[in-house]
Amino acid sequence: MIKHVGIIGSGTMGSGIAQVAATVGCLVKLYDTNTEALDKSKAALEKIMARLVEKGRIDETEKTRIQDNITYVDSLKDLSDSELTIEAIVENLDVKKKVFQELESYVSKKTIIASNTSSLSIASIASALKKPKRCIGIHFFNPAPLMKLVEVIPAIQTSDKVLRKTTMNIQNWGKTVAVAKDTPGFIVNRVARPFYGESLRIYEEGIADFATIDWSLKSIGGFRMGPFELMDFIGNDVNYTVTETVFKAFYYDPRYKPSFTQKRFSEAGYLGRKSGKGYYDYSEKATKPEP
Ligand code: NAI
Repeated sequence: MIKHVGIIGSGTMGSGIAQVAATVGCLVKLYDTNTEALDKSKAALEKIMARLVEKGRIDETEKTRIQDNITYVDSLKDLSDSELTIEAIVENLDVKKKVFQELESYVSKKTIIASNTSSLSIASIASALKKPKRCIGIHFFNPAPLMKLVEVIPAIQTSDKVLRKTTMNIQNWGKTVAVAKDTPGFIVNRVARPFYGESLRIYEEGIADFATIDWSLKSIGGFRMGPFELMDFIGNDVNYTVTETVFKAFYYDPRYKPSFTQKRFSEAGYLGRKSGKGYYDYSEKATKPEP
């Protein structure tokens, strides 16, 4: 079993994945270029752990053990002893490739180098490496500690050994693995595109507002969250980029066409929960009830 795990990017996903790995006993190094993001991640984990203690899910010893299993680092070199690295930085192919190239110069030949990308081609990320057979997609869902499903995506370059080892370890982290082909959006994000896209089109055509669409899908469709709540939860910037990538990767198939509304929200910084405003208002002074 893999013990030393390196995580690149301490945002929403990187922090969640670090918590999952630390909980099962891995020694995690969590790296980010932005030290504020590292501080924020540490503070957020403290809050989550305190809540779990309050609820009686873990005790103080367990809390300390999990927190001590994560070291926050601001140099990629610090990940050199990792047996597995999982990258969760900005959804940009060129940036990811650059980070992977640098990372490969620090880690051992056996290190598995994985990406948590939602939509980019694992084959093209892997092509940045000298040893592309060690590269694989490990796609967690948000929030990583709660969502059971993890898509594992071998690129055409990935070795069977790397696929087996990755799958086994992620299952040992308590997750259910679905091995998906390296196609745009893999399984879940491809299915989810029309869920968001059609909802945005219904809004743009003036058929219903955000809250009504969310309400309909929850009360009639049986979804736990409506599309606008979910986009606010994921982040409009992240969600828009995924749609744009999937749209382009399917040769501009209109089924996946991105929405101007979401683009404008993203450009305006109405990113959702993380910025305090999205389709709904999450600021402290919000008078409107949350969805
Ligand atoms: P985020 O914006 O919350 O966090 C990204 C972090 O990466 C930031 O802290 C940033 O400072 C850091 N970063 C940016 N460039 C870096 C670099 N060159 N080196 C080191 N750190 C760097 O993003 P989020 O939402 O965690 O997404 C990360 C990845 O996970 C993306 O590829 C996204 O598509 C994927 N993903 C996102 C999900 C979501 O619901 N937000 C769900 C599943 C996958």
